[in-house]
Amino acid sequence: QARRKIVAGNWKMNKTVPEALALVRELRGAVAALGDTVEVVIAPPFVALQPLHIALEGAPIQLAAQNCHWEASGAFTGEVSAGMLVELGCAYVIVGHSERRQFFGETDATVNQRAKAVKAAGMTPIVCVGETLAEREANQTLAVVERQVRGALEGFSAADVATFVMAYEPVWAIGTGRTATTAQAQEVHAAIRGLLGRLYDEGTAGRVRIQYGGSVKPDNAAELLGQPDVDGALVGGASLKAADFVAIVKAAG
Ligand code: G3H
Repeated sequence: QARRKIVAGNWKMNKTVPEALALVRELRGAVAALGDTVEVVIAPPFVALQPLHIALEGAPIQLAAQNCHWEASGAFTGEVSAGMLVELGCAYVIVGHSERRQFFGETDATVNQRAKAVKAAGMTPIVCVGETLAEREANQTLAVVERQVRGALEGFSAADVATFVMAYEPVWAIGTGRTATTAQAQEVHAAIRGLLGRLYDEGTAGRVRIQYGGSVKPDNAAELLGQPDVDGALVGGASLKAADFVAIVKAAG
């Protein structure tokens, strides 16, 4: 069945609130002009969520958070709960981004806990997986990605998983300007979908949207997004400029 493409901009730790508002002012009209073939999501830093929720009223752009804690509330200094995010208008939360895994001790088990909190709050997780360069060179890519997918989805039903967004982001392609070839991306995307088929069923696997992330730019987006199992993009650096991000959304349509 046809899966609606989904392009998300992960702003990471970039843009002050005034800068975020300025970028959204540029994006609003340009994205609206492209129609609704492609679902468009932006993931600004936590502090910009509330002002952007207001600025985006009526716009065809969904909000995502870049992370959340799994507990509803309590003594977790510096953390933000899923319930707090849904109240700010977030539809999605990115979980398990490789920068969280690399720099902040994220594990498959905590990715799973976070995804559960996101789902329980009524939002959709964007579950990130991907191998490092050393793992790829050791021919471990599919084994690593399989372990990450199984770990992240532990305990979820097929009905839950069917609504999820997965993001395949080879770590060596993030922020490096080095993109996976279309064949490399398609191979892993197809492997993830195959695994979902084995873990759940074909119908579920066919509904899950799998984004590619890692140096997606206006000039490589169309080719990557043209692959049969690539259902969108998770864009980092190129999502910080309206013209580039809009060009990628256009390439997805
Ligand atoms: O979440 C986005 C990815 O980490 C990709 O970042 O487009 O800057 O390589 P990038």
